[in-house]
Amino acid sequence: MTWPDGFARTTARPSPRSGIRLASPNLLRPYTTLGVGGPADHLIEPETVEGVAAVVRTAREEQAPLRVLGKGSNLVVGSDGVDGYVLRTNRLEHLRVGTDGLVTVGAGLSTARLLSAARKRGLGGLECLVGYPATVGGAVRMNAGGRWGEFGDAVESVLVVDHDGELSERTASECGFAYRTSRLAGLVIVEARLRLTPCDPEAYRLRIAEIHRDKSAAQPLSELSAGCVFKNPPGESAGRLVDRAGLLGTRVGGAAVSTVHGNFLVNGGDAEGDDVLRLIDLVREEVARQAGIELELEVEVWRRGGA
Ligand code: EPU
Repeated sequence: MTWPDGFARTTARPSPRSGIRLASPNLLRPYTTLGVGGPADHLIEPETVEGVAAVVRTAREEQAPLRVLGKGSNLVVGSDGVDGYVLRTNRLEHLRVGTDGLVTVGAGLSTARLLSAARKRGLGGLECLVGYPATVGGAVRMNAGGRWGEFGDAVESVLVVDHDGELSERTASECGFAYRTSRLAGLVIVEARLRLTPCDPEAYRLRIAEIHRDKSAAQPLSELSAGCVFKNPPGESAGRLVDRAGLLGTRVGGAAVSTVHGNFLVNGGDAEGDDVLRLIDLVREEVARQAGIELELEVEVWRRGGA
């Protein structure tokens, strides 16, 4: 089909990461923080909300799967890639601060840029985002966070495109934020309105640097990873369970359990998506065998034919 103005269909291009080569168009691996994943049938980057709606309607008309990609930081894509449409939100990256103090941000804005732009305007309360490569849309969808709070707490409302291609607003309570999830699955988040708290920019900058230092000591932040792979079971730490099972450093192909934190699987540079998926199965089986606990996935898994 012909796409209206404002669309970018991606084609093979140099990888933004060293050590990862593109062999075919629409490969997803450069767009995931783990650096793995085969091609999508269609990879599209709309620049407007209308553009998002057009992609949603096209996928629906063709009865093709539609998946939404932010920073790809909570995602494992199989080696065969995915069928149907992948809608990348990276071009929806506006930021406006209203006179009512609400900050309106595009879903594709990186959370690092949101943190820094808000801080410069004396707005804080986003400590929960430090150290996560994410987009606003992904952080909303997953209610990103940890010890330093949850992103859902800052959300006043979101704009979403539903599976009919219709635009509507959801209030924070309609979003149903809970531990690493929300009720926004299946919708395309295009914008969020945030209520941030006033801060002293310099004190806040120091606080962010301190959180980053703490996280870097406990997590392999400089390696290719998808963050925490498993949810913490009630009252337990998934990382500690993997560690106690003696699995730190375990490898499948180019993928390995981090030696720093058991809930991180890392790509040494030449991992394939299927190496990571096999490693996930191995870890789950071993923790179930030794501790009798079934680890649930926190990351999303994309596979051809799997949606
Ligand atoms: N631990 C081990 N071995 C390991 C990993 C952890 O013994 O290999 C121990 C730690 O020493 C600590 C306990 O387990 O005593 C808990 O570990 P940690 O403090 O690292 O927290 P976590 O529960 O593993 C959670 C979030 C992280 C978030 C941190 C800090 C989940 C699944 N994980 O990790 O979120 O960064 O708290 O707030 O909720 C993510 O969502 O991607 C993520 C990494």
